[in-house]
Amino acid sequence: PIATAEASAARQPTTVAHRGASAYTPENTLAAVDEAHKRGITWVENDVQRTKDGRLVVMHDTTLNRTTDAEQVYPGRSPWKISDFTLAQIQRLDAGSWFAPEYRGQRVPTLKQYLAAVDRNKQNLMLEIKAPELYPGIEKEILAELRKEGWLSAGHLARRLIVQSFSTSSVKAVHRQAPGLKTAFLGMPKTGDLPDYAKFTDQINPSHKSVTADYLAAVHRLKGAHDRKLELFTWTVNDGPTAVRLAKLGVDGIITNTPDVVRDAVAGK
Ligand code: G3P
Ligand code: CA
Repeated sequence: PIATAEASAARQPTTVAHRGASAYTPENTLAAVDEAHKRGITWVENDVQRTKDGRLVVMHDTTLNRTTDAEQVYPGRSPWKISDFTLAQIQRLDAGSWFAPEYRGQRVPTLKQYLAAVDRNKQNLMLEIKAPELYPGIEKEILAELRKEGWLSAGHLARRLIVQSFSTSSVKAVHRQAPGLKTAFLGMPKTGDLPDYAKFTDQINPSHKSVTADYLAAVHRLKGAHDRKLELFTWTVNDGPTAVRLAKLGVDGIITNTPDVVRDAVAGK
């Protein structure tokens, strides 16, 4: 019956491509954004950091050497911290070959380039402020870039963008500086602390290994910073059975390297 189908569709969590479709393409590249789009995935997650010359770039690690050829191009510059290199130096690097030869030539995207790709694909973005303790003031700079690129206009708020961090102070700063923007805290506060978190965040996003029915119920009892249900998105779930178990528990979103697998599994395909 239609009613049952609708009810089960309503319970399906949002699928978010973690670092893009990172099981199939090099993480945090434009290829990973486009691969998610090709597979019909409408949400992508990324990680934002700052270069030596103050430019915002998309990369997960705080060092360049795992996901680029920095060791070859800049020998003797160990540990290849992002903050020790300019944008021009970083964009000379190959951010694709480490993953597979056909991705040779992928670059570390600027936040601006990344936003343009997400926009072009009409996707939604879960933007993580990565290691903000290394980049004082980065929240303000990210918000300025989002504003400049039109991502803080009314149509983008809540619907297309969530800004998240493992840093409580960073999430608070974002909420203070852009009160209309949807935010998420990465981690698992004690249930007694959840009401305080709900004042400045819309989501509580823990590792999937920690999520329990009781914790989820404690989150769902509260309203978030924008007076809607406090949500829980969980990471990083890369297999169908785990995704189905979490969907049945009632999580609101699943962040995954294999977004098509998760989407199909929770849809019962
Ligand atoms: O979006 C959640 C997830 O990305 C947090 O962990 O280390 O992959 O940034 P990490
Ligand atoms: Ca992340």
